[in-house]
Amino acid sequence: MSHHLPSIGLGTWNMGERRSSFVAEVDAILHALRVGYRLIDTAELYADGACEQVVGAALKAFGHNMRDRITVVSKVLPSNASRRQTVAACKRSLDRLGLEQLDVYLLHWQGRHPYAQTIEAFLELQDAGLIKRWGVSNFDADDLADWLAVEKQMGIAPDKGCLTNQVYYSLMARGPEFDLLPAMQARDMPLMAYTPLGSGELASHPELAALARPMGLTAAQLALAWTVRSGRVCAIPKSVTLARITENFAAVDRRLTAQELDAIDRIFAPPRGKQPLAVI
Ligand SMILES: NC(=O)c1ccc[n+]([C@@H]2O[C@H](COP(=O)([O-])OP(=O)(O)OC[C@H]3O[C@@H](n4cnc5c(N)ncnc54)[C@H](OP(=O)(O)O)[C@@H]3O)[C@@H](O)[C@H]2O)c1
Repeated sequence: MSHHLPSIGLGTWNMGERRSSFVAEVDAILHALRVGYRLIDTAELYADGACEQVVGAALKAFGHNMRDRITVVSKVLPSNASRRQTVAACKRSLDRLGLEQLDVYLLHWQGRHPYAQTIEAFLELQDAGLIKRWGVSNFDADDLADWLAVEKQMGIAPDKGCLTNQVYYSLMARGPEFDLLPAMQARDMPLMAYTPLGSGELASHPELAALARPMGLTAAQLALAWTVRSGRVCAIPKSVTLARITENFAAVDRRLTAQELDAIDRIFAPPRGKQPLAVI
């Protein structure tokens, strides 16, 4: 049975960088929670941990009684991904977030530590109740296959192991559609799409905007509705602008017709062959 991820979550990269923005950023995340976002993506990397403090303050303000309904995702740096250091890094993240448990803990990208060591740490964290599930990020199809083979060797059942792979996937980076997305779908594994707005560029893309307007959508909304069209992708756009947070959330329930999808393909061509996974 697959673990369900919502179609949209809030990205938080670049939050926590400036003390002077703390209140506005907490307000932005709180606004997202109030309009219905149920997944927040963060990482120990972001602002050297200060981003997790912003997320923690927003979760606290939202109320502890809501904790069970929200999927909090954080990530361990590859340099910390040894068995011992992963456990320590997770505890530091939980401390900054003010939480007792992470819902999903991802390896941010591959580093020098063997997968088995990181997986052992994830198992230890799961046994201790500090994480519910784990996953990976920035893994191309062959890397993911290798990771899953190690999990199998370690006797981990598919419904207990890697939950998701968070990768760059957007209209500007359609490569995963060729092999990674089908491979993940075959395993009933949802994909988390980072940078789904192309760092904001898609929101002001003239041709996309022209297509979106008669549909009653903004370019950003069309980009997001497209990203989550299969029902097996969770897009995590980042914004600290309240109106945009609402706008983005409203997009993901919009179903696109075959004609609308064809029109999008004419602007952003689907991949015709293998493209190495793009990374931001
Ligand atoms: N795993 C990884 O290696 C990895 C890598 C990159 C990103 N991520 C995650 O994915 C999240 C999203 O990616 P991202 O932050 O790189 O890029 P993104 O979500 O594609 O774009 C964010 C930018 O778009 C702007 N924006 C958002 N909604 C908009 C709208 N409706 N209209 C116009 N502009 C809009 C934001 O501005 P304002 O904030 O000023 O509103 C911000 O500048 C990150 O925050 C992070 O959580 C993960």
